[in-house]
Amino acid sequence: MARKFFVGGNWKCNGTTEEVKKIVSTLNEAQVPSQDVVEVVVSPPFVFLPLVKSLLRHDFHVAAQNCWVKKGGAYTGEVSAEMLVNLGIPWVILGHSERRLILNESNEFVGDKVAYALEKGLKVIACVGETLEQRESGSTVDVVAAQTKAIAERVSNWAHVVLAYEPVWAIGTGKVASPAQAQEVHFELRKWLHANTSPEVAATTRIIYGGSVNGANCKELASQPDVDGFLVGGASLKLEFIDIIKSAE
Ligand code: G3P
Repeated sequence: MARKFFVGGNWKCNGTTEEVKKIVSTLNEAQVPSQDVVEVVVSPPFVFLPLVKSLLRHDFHVAAQNCWVKKGGAYTGEVSAEMLVNLGIPWVILGHSERRLILNESNEFVGDKVAYALEKGLKVIACVGETLEQRESGSTVDVVAAQTKAIAERVSNWAHVVLAYEPVWAIGTGKVASPAQAQEVHFELRKWLHANTSPEVAATTRIIYGGSVNGANCKELASQPDVDGFLVGGASLKLEFIDIIKSAE
């Protein structure tokens, strides 16, 4: 079953108003495949979401980089799913390894966030990935399966979920996973979905790769049968993001 290619740009904690306007202007002027071929979602920091949404070309969409785990209230500094819906922000990234490792977000907490975000009508880019130590100890598949299980148990609508495999050791390091390494884990994740959700969910859910993707390595990664796109960090702030979008062709 054909799965529409998905390219996310995770801007992380970067940008000024001027820089954001320049990035969006570059994206708006780019010649890229139609939205029938590739789904493009950019994820600026919270403070720039309304601006980016207002300026971005109509066929690209925006995502928040996180949201709170329940209804808003006395949770200083948090942004609720309801607020994102109110702003017309359709997507949210959840479970990013930087939040799992720096802010100690557990598998269960990520699962709860996914459940609440889906319940409020958001679409979710749900992230999993192992550390270098876990890979070197041979526990990659066990780790990402456990992370996926905690997410899958809470998913009410798989059509609103994209699964992102982001090996921690490849994030921001320039040490991109080889096409074979990416394909191996994506295959194992799809096999897990087939066994633990349904053959249809396994066949239709996009599994995207993140971790040092750039204009030079994207084409070969995109050619892997179980790689359905990318979640791009550093390169999403650069012109080469357009090349990464074009790797959908
Ligand atoms: O969410 C995507 C991000 O973690 C990947 O970062 O800079 O290695 O592309 P980067």
